[in-house]
Amino acid sequence: MTSRIVPVKAFDLVIFGGTGDLAYRKIFPALFHRFRDRQFGDDSRIVGASRRPMDRDAYRAAIRDALLGQTGASSADTDAIERFLATVDYIAVDGRGDAGWTELRDWFGAGTQKVRGFYLATAPDLFGVLAARLAAHGIVTPQARIIVEKPIGTDGASAEEINDALGAVFSERQIFRIDHYLGKETVQNLLALRFANILLEPLWNAHYVDHVQITVAEALGVGGRGAYYDRSGALRDMVQNHLLQLLCLVAMEPPASLDADAVRDEKLKVLRALVPIDASNAAALTVRGQYRAGASHGGAVPGYADDSGVPDSRTETFVALKAAVSNWRWSGVPFYLRTGKRLQEQRSEIVVVFRPVPHLLFQGVDGHVVDNRLTIRLQPDEGIKLWLTIKEPGPGGMRLKQVPLDMSFAQAFNARAPEAYERLLMDVIRGNATLFMRRDEVRAAWAWIDPIREAWAQAPEPPRPYVAGSWGPAGSVALIERDGRTWNEEFA
Ligand code: BG6
Repeated sequence: MTSRIVPVKAFDLVIFGGTGDLAYRKIFPALFHRFRDRQFGDDSRIVGASRRPMDRDAYRAAIRDALLGQTGASSADTDAIERFLATVDYIAVDGRGDAGWTELRDWFGAGTQKVRGFYLATAPDLFGVLAARLAAHGIVTPQARIIVEKPIGTDGASAEEINDALGAVFSERQIFRIDHYLGKETVQNLLALRFANILLEPLWNAHYVDHVQITVAEALGVGGRGAYYDRSGALRDMVQNHLLQLLCLVAMEPPASLDADAVRDEKLKVLRALVPIDASNAAALTVRGQYRAGASHGGAVPGYADDSGVPDSRTETFVALKAAVSNWRWSGVPFYLRTGKRLQEQRSEIVVVFRPVPHLLFQGVDGHVVDNRLTIRLQPDEGIKLWLTIKEPGPGGMRLKQVPLDMSFAQAFNARAPEAYERLLMDVIRGNATLFMRRDEVRAAWAWIDPIREAWAQAPEPPRPYVAGSWGPAGSVALIERDGRTWNEEFA
C-alpha cells in the first residue's frame, strides 16, 4: 500500500512535561515517525520544557534512548533520528514560578505567522497556570494552539474550572483536548465503515441490533502510576473519556459533514441521551472491581494494594456497566461497557450483536444459527470481522458453521498502523479539531459520570476483588448474563 503523506506547514512546539513518561513514550516517538515520513522538516522546531535543569545534549540523548527503545526504530533510523534530534531543544521552565519564561519567549521569537503549539503533558492542575503564564509572557499568538491531555478534571466542577482557565486565554477553536482513542486507526475506520457503506446503516438501530459491547481490557497493572491512578480509578481514567467516545461513534447519527463541529454536535447528542445512572440504579447497572495478586502471562504479579502502595484503597481498577441511549434509534438496546487493568489479555473491541432471524428454518440440523455480530477490534490485531452463519462446504447434508468475513488490517494493507498520537499531533498543526473533544462534550460526559461516582461513594461495600489475570469480578459476567447474553468470545 502506498500511503499519502500531506506535509504540514512549519511549526514551533513546546512540550511542557517534556521529561515525563508521556513525552518520552508517546509524544516524541509520534513526532519522530511523522518527521521520518517527511510530514514536517527541519524548519519545524520542538522544545521540551520542565522544571528540571538539563542541557540540550542530555535531553537529546534521553530522547534518542527513548526512540531506540521503541519497537520499530532500528539502526537504519539512526540518521533520521539524528536529523530529528537537531530540531529539538530544551528549556527549564518553572510552571508556577518565573524561571525560564523569558528564555521560552525568546525561543519562539517575534514572528507571529508560524503555528505555535503548546502541549501540556502535565498534571491538570497546571493547565490553567500554564495558560495564564503563556499569555502573560506574550507567547500566545492568533496562530497558537494548546493541547491538553485527559483527564480534564476529576469531576464536572473541576473540569469547568480548567476549561474556564483555558478559555480565558484561548478561543475554543485553539483548544485541542486529546482523547487518544479517537486517533486510533480502527476508531477512525468505524466512521468509514458506518458512513461510507450503505449496507450497515439500515440495520444500525434498535430494530436489528440486539445490543452493543465495548471492552477495553488491559493486561498491565497500574505500574508506577499508582499515585495518579488511586485518585482516579477506571471510571474516570477510561470510561469518562475513551469508552464514552467509542460509544458515541457507534451510536451517533450521521453528521452532515466531517467538519469538526458537525461530528461533535452528533456525539454530544448521544452523551446527552444517556440514561442517568445514580444511587437509585447503580447497584443493578454497574460493577466495580479491584485486582488482587495473581498471574499475568505466566508470571506472578502483585495486587493493586502493592502496586499502588495504598493498602485500603477503594479505587476501582475494573468497571462494567450497562448503559442506555434514550433516543429513537437506540431505544431498548443495551450498551455493555467494561474496562479493567490486569485482565486476562489486552483486548479492545466493539461488538455489535444483531438480533436473531425472525423464523428459524434449520431445526434439527448439525450446528446452530448464531446471531450475526460485527466485531471491530482496536487492539491488538486491528481489524473488522462480520460473523455470518453458512453451510459448511462438502457432502454430508446441511451443517451450519460460523465464519467471519475477515478484514485484518495488517494483512490486508501490509502497512504500519500509525500511532494515535501521530495523527492527532498533525491534526493540531493543521488546525483540524474533528478528533478532539469540545468543551460541551467534556461537560456532558462528566454529567453522566458524576452521579455514578457519587452512588459508589455512598455504597458501603468496596470494589469486588478479582484475581489478576482473570476477566474481572464474577459480577461483570452476571451483569450481562442476567439479560440472557454473554461477553463476546470468538468462535473457534
Ligand atoms: C490512558 C489511561 O488514557 O489510556 C491509561 O490513562 C491506559 O490508564 C491507557 O493504560 C490505555 O491506552 P492504550 O492506547 O494503551 O489502550
